Amino acid sequence: MIASRRSLSQASFTARVDDLTQAAIRDGATSFAALLHRLPGVYPTEVLASLDRLADSASVDAAVAMSIHRRAATNGVAAVEGRSLLPLPHPLDYEWRFTPDAARLLLNRAADLTPSGGDLLLFGTPGLAVEALTLPIGRRLAFLAEDNSVTDRVFALNQATGSPLSIAFCSGGLPRESADAVFLDPPWYLDFVRPMLAAAAHACRSGGVVLISLPPDGARPSAEADRQATIAFARRLGLAAIEHSPLAIAYETPFFERNALAAVGIYPPQHWRRGDLVVFRKTRASTRPPPASSGRLRDWTEVAIGRMRLFIRGGGEAHSDDASLISLVEGDILPTVSRRDPRRRQANVWTSGNRIFRTDNPQLVLEAAISCAGEAMGSGVQPSLWGSIRERETLERVAAKLRALAAIEEQEEGKTPIITTERSIAWRSSSTNSWSRSTAIVSG
Ligand SMILES: C[S@@+](CC[C@H](N)C(=O)[O-])C[C@H]1O[C@@H](n2cnc3c(N)ncnc32)[C@H](O)[C@@H]1O
Repeated sequence: MIASRRSLSQASFTARVDDLTQAAIRDGATSFAALLHRLPGVYPTEVLASLDRLADSASVDAAVAMSIHRRAATNGVAAVEGRSLLPLPHPLDYEWRFTPDAARLLLNRAADLTPSGGDLLLFGTPGLAVEALTLPIGRRLAFLAEDNSVTDRVFALNQATGSPLSIAFCSGGLPRESADAVFLDPPWYLDFVRPMLAAAAHACRSGGVVLISLPPDGARPSAEADRQATIAFARRLGLAAIEHSPLAIAYETPFFERNALAAVGIYPPQHWRRGDLVVFRKTRASTRPPPASSGRLRDWTEVAIGRMRLFIRGGGEAHSDDASLISLVEGDILPTVSRRDPRRRQANVWTSGNRIFRTDNPQLVLEAAISCAGEAMGSGVQPSLWGSIRERETLERVAAKLRALAAIEEQEEGKTPIITTERSIAWRSSSTNSWSRSTAIVSG
């Protein structure tokens, strides 16, 4: 029986992180990588802040603290996104992908827990879905996904490999009692975890298992309390917790997070982030009615400009003729990835490299972005569509800025080879969970 816990205050959390950091250093974790690995998912900037506090109070050797700082500020060889078959993850999707090893481990674990010939459902896990395409799992596989360009790519890869996956959108009807194991990795916020876990519980057959990745205790002050709340919520869904494996799931550092940390001069090892694996057994039917869908309504439109995924909010609106991209933070890269950062709310233009801007004319920025995307197909801007000469000039100026951003981000990314073997959708609107198709372009 697990007692419910209250969220730690910020002060208690800080004190706990300091204790853990001090113990880790005492035990010989004196490099940045070793320290991050020893701590339970503490964010790199928090680790360095803890180190400063401990050095100030002479609780750790100042020379050790300085050496760890130096290592943290050393930009090693440009890391290349591990799973480059998929479009870049976007911060607005909270898309942290598993390392290939972790994906294999999870698929094997799900297979071990299910009868041969059983059905696996992958829910909100595009990276896992792609990994599953290449493995002899011996189970029927379904992928329940958001309707976005990442899923488009999974569709294409699935077709190219003989369609081992059956793919459905979570904005449509949700499956009922159709899987012996459901794997889900919601964004680490309770308002995502609860509806997705409810959908997973209903999709799971009686006696089946639900596997979920949750934030480890060091991720934030409320992590432990949130896990207990999730386990209590799961109980009402008929799910009994049978396993909790702290820090069992390794993640890649997405490009947007690498940029956010680089903006404050920090370069962590590529696989520092880990999640806790919690496994539930479905022991009875849920006491809650099944959710109709788990899709989220969003008013962002996505346009691919080369590898860069540009999200624009309110693309149907123009509050001014001025379509400038207004800086919201110095250097334009938002230096955090936390949803709690208040600067997020001001942005209505957001790149996959975590650059944020505000514009008073999102409509024109969207048109400029679509024209950039169209150039890759040789279509570009059709002058008759774009009104006055002044509007055309503005459009071209914004398009040039967007092309420059895409070039900078491709450079930052470490020149990941662009995959040009398939076609993908140039832009899509997710405002009503429907999507719009313009010209199909070749993009990576
Ligand atoms: C933390 S990522 C998980 C990715 C996973 N680690 C992987 O490697 O495949 C969270 C994912 O949940 C998806 N997502 C967010 N809200 C969702 C919803 N309501 N239903 C289904 N998927 C959702 C996002 O698109 C994103 O891909």
